[in-house]
Amino acid sequence: MCGIVGYVGKRQVVPVLLDGLRRLEYRGYDSAGVAIAQNGTVKVSKKAGRLSELEEVVPYEEFSQATIGIGHTRWATHGKPTDDNAHPHQDCTGDFTVIHNGIIENYAELRRELKEKGHVFRSETDTEVIAHLFEELYEDNLEETMKKVIARLEGSYALVVVSVRDKNKLLAARQDSPLVIGLGKGENLLASDIPALLPYTRETIIMEDGQLAILTEDSVTIKDIKGNTIEPKIFHVHWDDVAAEKAGYEHFMLKEIHEQPKALKDTLAGRITEDNKVKFAEGFALTPEMVRDIEKVYLIACGTAYHAGLVGKHLIEKLVGIPAEADVASEFRYRDPLVTDKTLVVVVSQSGETADTLAALRESKARGARVVAVTNVVGSSVAREADDVIYTWAGPEIAVASTKAYTTQLLALSLFAIYLAQERGKEATYLLEEIKKLPEKASRVLETEARIKELAEVIAKHDDAFYIGRGLDFAVSLEGQLKLKEISYIHAEAYPAGELKHGTLALITEGTPVISLATQPSLYEKTVSNIQEVKARGAYVVGIVKEGDEKINEHADVVINIPEVNPLLSPIIAVLPLQLLSYYAAVARGEDVDKPRNLAKSVTVE
Ligand code: AGP
Repeated sequence: MCGIVGYVGKRQVVPVLLDGLRRLEYRGYDSAGVAIAQNGTVKVSKKAGRLSELEEVVPYEEFSQATIGIGHTRWATHGKPTDDNAHPHQDCTGDFTVIHNGIIENYAELRRELKEKGHVFRSETDTEVIAHLFEELYEDNLEETMKKVIARLEGSYALVVVSVRDKNKLLAARQDSPLVIGLGKGENLLASDIPALLPYTRETIIMEDGQLAILTEDSVTIKDIKGNTIEPKIFHVHWDDVAAEKAGYEHFMLKEIHEQPKALKDTLAGRITEDNKVKFAEGFALTPEMVRDIEKVYLIACGTAYHAGLVGKHLIEKLVGIPAEADVASEFRYRDPLVTDKTLVVVVSQSGETADTLAALRESKARGARVVAVTNVVGSSVAREADDVIYTWAGPEIAVASTKAYTTQLLALSLFAIYLAQERGKEATYLLEEIKKLPEKASRVLETEARIKELAEVIAKHDDAFYIGRGLDFAVSLEGQLKLKEISYIHAEAYPAGELKHGTLALITEGTPVISLATQPSLYEKTVSNIQEVKARGAYVVGIVKEGDEKINEHADVVINIPEVNPLLSPIIAVLPLQLLSYYAAVARGEDVDKPRNLAKSVTVE
């Protein structure tokens, strides 16, 4: 997610903005910029790349007396990381300068409307439409204009405006993306995250959705969308810098587990039309004719992304009715794969830089396949080389163990399977209503954290654990075992539940933990009988089942219920307890959760 900093006060603003952006660097970004107000103008300096490159172009001398400005680090969603796409963005006149974090879902239609009115756009971003809307709608009051502008926006935003039309003032609005105000003495600040405020103040106001803020050097006013002034709660920050980067969570992994409802909501944004169809970004060029020509789909990835590909395989075969196969990239690329120009290859990669996945992409293209990438990083190698890209808008994933990237990959693959089905005249949009409810259902699962923590402390005492499931539950079991072993170092294995008696059952002894997923109705009875097999040999059985499942209580030592959801979507919800289980097992064993031994966040070598 992007980083936002705003300052109005008595200090030299340029160092304040750059220091604030530096404190937000951990959030991940690919470009940065500042806008400085001075002598009736607002000047923008912005660059793709690291902050150090921006620092080389900021005219410090020219603005040594400036005391008001805004700064931004961008994590690209719409438009590649380039100088032009970096924030801040201005309207045609330069009178309105904007920075924004979030996704404007209706930006394409706003852009068309504004272009027809003669506005000239300089970037590919959704954000720029906001600056031109200010220009279009301004009459004589900046605050009134802000209200008119946000009434036109659909989607999420943390938005800050500085304008020559109303000097020495910052205006902000918040909807779904965080914005925090720092209350100083003779100075006030705005930021997307608390760390940027800490050098100046620990007295903060956490803006709420639907609120506006007006900041001058000696006043902060909070209003609701109707313009009524609100008495805000003031929050004293007790965190130190490091804790503040994790928003108070002990590790980035736990923060990212809890970011999943929002990551799912962001990944869904703008991808379901009014008439209940799936649509992808402008420029998604997989035409209906191409979709109808597909004879086989390969889903290629590594690690957690491969486990997402396995779920994608099930969804495509079930919803689209064409053969689909998930394969590990390091195997696929060397096995002379049967790929033709009728093959669709889907590569899945959070980083978009995994060497084996990139090699598999190139091998597929060399053999004539069309390649679609599902990735979390705009402008990554995989994104640049694929024919089409579906972005997961999970925001930067800092912890080595992938969590929000996995669930948003599953969501993106679910949408893609529904898209393929609809383009081939098959009915799959019945799932869309349920998909819209996933963020809320995910939040409900995360509320059971305390109970899962207790269970994890039991599992943490063991050196072996098994995960079993059938069908989609087996695919999720694979992700669960990887999570557990990669951060707690407990040896874990996943098995198709029906496969246990062909060997692994020999390892089940008194107290062996067996995490059993039984969320698939068509396979439930079979899975329960496999649970009975392990129970009969003394296993410590943890059942992951849907709410209301009473039968499992006869066979499991511990039951974790997940909200009712269509079986095809249950992996997105069923994995959440497994993520928390792994996290708390690793914490209980005192391991380095965010940076486990021997592992890298992105494996850019073979
Ligand atoms: C998962 O927790 C691991 N970090 C690892 O398996 C990862 O999923 C794999 O290396 C693939 O990375 P990618 O998604 O960036 O391609």
